[in-house]
Amino acid sequence: MARKPGSAKDKSRSAKKAIHHVKPVHPEKGQARILEQRVAERTEELRESEEKYRSIFDSANDGIIACDLTTGKFLFINRKMSALTGYSEEEILKLGVKDIHPAQDMPYVLNEFNEMAAGKKTETRAIPVLRKDGGIIYCDIGSSFLGRTTLIGFFRDVTERKKIEEDRERLITELEVSNKELEQFAYVASHDMQEPLRMVTSYLDLLNKRYRDKLDKDAGEFIDYSLSGAFHMKALLNDLLQYSRVGTKGKPFELTDLNSTLKSAMFNLKKPIGESRAEITSGNLPGVYADETQMVQLFQNLIGNAIKFRGGEASRIHISSELKGNEWSIRVSDNGIGIDPKFFDKIFLIFQRLHAKEKYPGTGIGLAVCKKIVERHGGRIWVESELGKGAAFCFTMPMSR
Ligand SMILES: Nc1ncnc2c1ncn2[C@@H]1O[C@H](COP(=O)(O)OP(=O)(O)O)[C@@H](O)[C@H]1O
Ligand SMILES: [Mg+2]
Repeated sequence: MARKPGSAKDKSRSAKKAIHHVKPVHPEKGQARILEQRVAERTEELRESEEKYRSIFDSANDGIIACDLTTGKFLFINRKMSALTGYSEEEILKLGVKDIHPAQDMPYVLNEFNEMAAGKKTETRAIPVLRKDGGIIYCDIGSSFLGRTTLIGFFRDVTERKKIEEDRERLITELEVSNKELEQFAYVASHDMQEPLRMVTSYLDLLNKRYRDKLDKDAGEFIDYSLSGAFHMKALLNDLLQYSRVGTKGKPFELTDLNSTLKSAMFNLKKPIGESRAEITSGNLPGVYADETQMVQLFQNLIGNAIKFRGGEASRIHISSELKGNEWSIRVSDNGIGIDPKFFDKIFLIFQRLHAKEKYPGTGIGLAVCKKIVERHGGRIWVESELGKGAAFCFTMPMSR
């Protein structure tokens, strides 16, 4: 270890002078021996203290490395840093910052390093570190200074976390691609199947009109079944098209007053509302950033269901809103037949319904469309209900900024 000013040697020199002046009685040799012993003791104490710090330093869980800012070279490292990089202490002391990071990442790494060296930041995340064996690990790095020219880096291995993050991002991208493809497929399929279906329906119609009287009773019945199947198929294709359009044909969000959105939905539902004499009430609804057409569709599907699945008594439907945290919770509740909680998830899936279409007509796409619309707007949708006790469909919308 380098000798510092005021070290044992200096002390012994001034001590010698003092001895010469004041203590002529004792021989110099004896004094020198005492001083030597003190120096030896002090040196031993220093060695022990250094050993203690070295062992703490080496048992640290993070890799620690010191870098001389004037030369860019490393000054010392701990055992963990050796393990992380695969370099021995001796080897790494011949290296500098540029040697332990992949070349292609160097511009970014150097920028981070310079910001730390300038004291502008004290940590950086997921920096690639090039090991001696050519492997790459990722470390979060914290920094602090020792004096003015020595930067200490604390390296924490986060390769596992980084891998999980990358896997997650890759899966999300794959899922997005596959969703887009599926949407595209649903769009093309439903669109292109309409044409042949139109052909089937029109010729069945013709058969019905021109030949029904010429055929027997059974044949007439068969034509009816075929026609009703074709109509249901048409409804399915239309709904599937509508479903695929939520993502592909959505409009940009604009500030939308949900009170007027609700009015439009009720206008579109004029017929079923009139026929069922449904009583629809609402509280004051908020303005939200949304695709207005889709919001109309959302209310229309939920209120349409509330009317369709009404119980024995006249339908009463209430629409209310509540601000919870930074999002609005909108609720459409009815006094209809209700839903068994075991079907709460199922009903939001495409083509899933709980009743025969003879009893309650439909295609089972309405709620899947609702879910897609709500999720496109960054919200969630769920149902609260008990069989026979009405249902409340709730969805959230982020508060407008
Ligand atoms: N308000 C409601 N009350 C009771 N059941 C409901 C209500 N809304 C939806 N459901 C149930 O959820 C199923 C799925 O709804 P939806 O996707 O709109 O399809 P559809 O209306 O074509 O049947 C319905 O078939 C019904 O069983
Ligand atoms: Mg429906």
